[in-house]
Amino acid sequence: MKIHLIALATIASCALHAQAQQAVEVSHWWTSGGEAAALSVLKGNLEKQGVKWNDMPVAGGGGEAAMTAVRARVTSGNPPTAAQMMGFDIQDWGKQGVLADLTELAAKEGWDKSVPKALQNFSKYNGKWVSAPVNVHSTNWVWANKEVLTKSGVTSEPKTWDEFITAAEKVQKAGFIALAHGGQPWQEATVFDGVVLATGGVDYYRKAFIERDPKALNSATTEKVFHRMSQLRKLVDKDFSGRDWNVAAGMVISGKAGFQIMGDWAKGEFINAKQVPGKDFLCFRIPGTQGMVSFNSDQFAMFKVGADKSAAQIKLASAIMEPGFQSAFNVVKGSAPARTDVPDTAFDACGKKAIKDLAEANAKNTLVGSIAHGHAAPASIKNAFYDVITRHFNGQIDDKKAVVELTAAAKN
Ligand code: GAL
Repeated sequence: MKIHLIALATIASCALHAQAQQAVEVSHWWTSGGEAAALSVLKGNLEKQGVKWNDMPVAGGGGEAAMTAVRARVTSGNPPTAAQMMGFDIQDWGKQGVLADLTELAAKEGWDKSVPKALQNFSKYNGKWVSAPVNVHSTNWVWANKEVLTKSGVTSEPKTWDEFITAAEKVQKAGFIALAHGGQPWQEATVFDGVVLATGGVDYYRKAFIERDPKALNSATTEKVFHRMSQLRKLVDKDFSGRDWNVAAGMVISGKAGFQIMGDWAKGEFINAKQVPGKDFLCFRIPGTQGMVSFNSDQFAMFKVGADKSAAQIKLASAIMEPGFQSAFNVVKGSAPARTDVPDTAFDACGKKAIKDLAEANAKNTLVGSIAHGHAAPASIKNAFYDVITRHFNGQIDDKKAVVELTAAAKN
């Protein structure tokens, strides 16, 4: 009898030990207040399953620095379990043959039915699931401080581009910063997404920036896009250069500024500051882009790992796709769920609008991949676009030169 008890105790302790050993290492760039709050939901869910979370945060909005850090780790043959990644970057890693195959889990959990095609195009490589999508952000949003607008005599939501510029000029005249902006290439490009949509609509957006047709790029429409970027340049404060996106969001939250044009991760900062949509702040589509959505989905691409880590990796992928998590995470993050079968019950008015707009744009074919966030072109072209957009925003090249350089960048 005694031997049996000792054997049982040994087996139990090995099982516990094996369970305790389960851990995941995850690279991401979610270092702002709102982002960290959202990520803590996932960390908590995994820890409840006995999976330890080893954090690999790499600060720097838009993820450029994070991708560099992940590249170093993969090149040295020691990839993290998973990395936050977007769009064409996932395809590039898929091409390297370093991503794990999640197809069995996806089939068991019905991901093909619940995840929209627009996301699956990026989550799969050669027909295999290699990445778990956690959300759908969109970039063609304006965030506004309600009190600043009232004090500036802006009594209604601007519906056209010209009404938006007029409203912003009123805010500026009233002594506030009209447009809170962070002068970093990825932020200028994020603004550019919506200006392209507002100026040329989805057909021009697709032709010029997804098909990269030289005639569409080298056009009067693109020149008008840059003219509008110059209008916005006149609305930012003198200290915008180098400012982080969440600091710019803080300027609208605190009432220093009237507007911010930013993806809906900015909503996470308003929520984190306990602000309420409709009462403290407004969220609306960039005037002229109503009915359109420029999206980017944050995904966790899973790297090929040893047998000792794959059980924990599967638990991570499953936890990401779990409907309850998809609601709890996105309520805090400011994005819509990646799955279409998650109710909007827990979301606030801006979150409900994000989900509704996404479903409608998906149905009406007015859903396009964000240029700025890796869903329109591979990184080499995206970064070449960044360079032209930011040099134009900083007055180093004029509208016409910017058109010529952008057209050349598309051939990069
Ligand atoms: C985006 C990402 C968001 C947020 C933002 C600011 O690329 O999709 O989740 O992190 O960058 O860093």
